[in-house]
Amino acid sequence: MPNQPLRAGIIGLGVGKAHAKGYAGNHGAQLVALCDTDELRLNELGAQYGVPPEGRFTDYKKMLSEARLDLVSVCLPNFLHADATIAALDAGVHVLCEKPMAPTVAQAQDMIAAAGRNGRQLMVAYNYRYRADVRWIRRVVESGQLGNVYHVYAAWRRETGIPGSGWFGNKQMAGGGALIDLGVHVLDLTMWLLGFPAVTTVSGDTHSLFGPRGLKTWGRRAGQPATMTFDVDDGAVGFIRFANGANAVLEATWAEHRQPKDDLIHLELQGTNGTVVLNIANYSLEDTLRFYTEIEGEPVTIIPTIRVSGPQGHEALVIDAIRSLVEHTPPPSDGFQGLAAVQVLQAIYESARSGHEVELNTQPNAIP
Ligand SMILES: NC(=O)c1ccc[n+]([C@@H]2O[C@H](COP(=O)([O-])OP(=O)(O)OC[C@H]3O[C@@H](n4cnc5c(N)ncnc54)[C@H](O)[C@@H]3O)[C@@H](O)[C@H]2O)c1
Repeated sequence: MPNQPLRAGIIGLGVGKAHAKGYAGNHGAQLVALCDTDELRLNELGAQYGVPPEGRFTDYKKMLSEARLDLVSVCLPNFLHADATIAALDAGVHVLCEKPMAPTVAQAQDMIAAAGRNGRQLMVAYNYRYRADVRWIRRVVESGQLGNVYHVYAAWRRETGIPGSGWFGNKQMAGGGALIDLGVHVLDLTMWLLGFPAVTTVSGDTHSLFGPRGLKTWGRRAGQPATMTFDVDDGAVGFIRFANGANAVLEATWAEHRQPKDDLIHLELQGTNGTVVLNIANYSLEDTLRFYTEIEGEPVTIIPTIRVSGPQGHEALVIDAIRSLVEHTPPPSDGFQGLAAVQVLQAIYESARSGHEVELNTQPNAIP
């Protein structure tokens, strides 16, 4: 109905809390329902955002049948993304699903099919697109100031960053480790900044060196043995060729020996007219960029000062998702973009297993 705020809900209230902020502050939507099997989390967030007890659910299927939602954020552990997303789409509800879209290509394709048969929007939550410095890089690429971008180096590396509890180290529940958890963000940024060229080949390798020994794990003392299942990668590297001739090196680690507490996102786009480098140290928002070029035959280093204002990250992402539904503008990201990342990640795992390069043919971007 026009002018009515969208009725929004959230399933899974870990990072789901960050989605709540976006819904709460936006006039286009009203946060009316929350779901989590953890009743403490559920009631705390319900109280914080004024969601009354009748809007609080421990069963998402009950929530989908009773809460009359227009839009729901799926913020569950990875292995539940497909089930919950398809249930929501089949109930006629638009979905904003956390990354990675799904642990397998088959699940991601099923999610796209559900969106298609129900005529509902399926969006994937890539909050790092909503940083002011990243959006500046996008404008620089689009304006042609880098020339032809022929190489990207994209990495997220942590010194001590293995999630210490829960499902993240469990392959059955997470689908993978550092690669699928952190690598997916910088992979998406790479493809988004390049305009989603088709991927032709992928190769890669993974290792699991620290997690199984209980090392470099959040909340665990040095040398304390691992008590949780850990059967995923804690580090990975990939090499990706695109149909437009560009290539990318991707690295993701939850753990490595380096400067203590380092948590670094590094993105480097090399073009024929210039290189732009993004260095985000421990989630910093300022002094993250360098632009290298030549002027009159001499190397020049430019230090952009990006003004950070208004909502960033998840809050901006949720606002954009709402706007896309209300104003019928392109969604923040669609299922095809989510699928492309899952295809590349799966191909890196396949290459690591087989020791061979994997051929792919991802569909170029469905939206601008
Ligand atoms: N975009 C980002 O930067 C970002 C950051 C963190 C996590 N994530 C993604 O968000 C998802 C969730 O991660 P998290 O860190 O919030 O995990 P988490 O374990 O902190 O939270 C998951 C929540 O889901 C609840 N839950 C589990 N099974 C449920 C079920 N069947 N029904 C209802 N609730 C259920 C749990 O009780 C828990 O509160 C993952 O896919 C992860 O990759 C994204």
